[in-house]
Amino acid sequence: MKKPKITVIGSMNIDMVTETDIMPNQGETIFGSVFSSFTGGKGANQAVACARLGAQVTMIGCVGEDHFAKQLLAALDKEGVVTSYVKTVPYQSTGIATITVCDNDNRIIVIPGANHCLLPEDILSLKEMIANSDMVLLQQEIPFATVQAAIKLANELDIPVILNPAPAVKLPRELLDQVYIMTPNEYELAILLGLGDKQDQTFEQLIEQYPQRIVMTNGSKGAFYKNLDGEIKHEPGKKVEAVDTTGAGDTFNGALAVKLSEGSALDEAVKFAVAASALSVTKLGAQSGMPLRADVERFMETKV
Ligand code: RIB
Repeated sequence: MKKPKITVIGSMNIDMVTETDIMPNQGETIFGSVFSSFTGGKGANQAVACARLGAQVTMIGCVGEDHFAKQLLAALDKEGVVTSYVKTVPYQSTGIATITVCDNDNRIIVIPGANHCLLPEDILSLKEMIANSDMVLLQQEIPFATVQAAIKLANELDIPVILNPAPAVKLPRELLDQVYIMTPNEYELAILLGLGDKQDQTFEQLIEQYPQRIVMTNGSKGAFYKNLDGEIKHEPGKKVEAVDTTGAGDTFNGALAVKLSEGSALDEAVKFAVAASALSVTKLGAQSGMPLRADVERFMETKV
């Protein structure tokens, strides 16, 4: 099968990961257990996921002028991701994410650094290259104006966009109308709908209110989605030994993008993405556990 061409526009971070058995309270100092650093950033993670699952991937993003940038570019190069459109921003530091892993979950603070230097004009200047893509994959760790410009351009070029609205903000309706599929998690969906912490509705009810095509990830419970006929469906999660859930959503998005750009139906693509993201949580670090295509296919055959 011909490899689909996916352009990922987004963030590139170095993840500083602290593992701890308990979360400190406000004003409290505790000892954690392990510190590690990894290449990350939702954009770079999704690029790695797509490449491992069989796509030809081009990354558009920004790094700073530091040794972290070299690490990030080397990690993408190793996966065969095209990095020639990644801009190095003078006098800027590369994006950093401080991540606390505790109790099978994570908390993340991102310092955007160079990621915030990816501008709408950078995207417009790459129109010819983007026109060659089968799919554009976006998240929200770059300036909002850049996300908007990328969606508008992809629409003009008739290229479907998957938008992973993370970190979430309430988005204008005209933007939602231009996105092929939105992929929030349960918290992000409530923000997209302007509901804040209001959790008195089922996911099916929340998704029902969303006007367009949507796939909501729900951690170990899998994904809920609205298909082409407006039907709400649930694809249950796969049971695995979770070590670190960081990057599970990115693996999900990458897998969904690869399958859909190969022409698979949404049901099949969601099933594949749920399996890929389950496998990704079995190792520490966002990119370390991202599976190869053959791993996912084998896992789907053997795991109910
Ligand atoms: O989705 C996980 C990613 O979010 C991490 O790699 C971190 O860099 C933040 O961008």
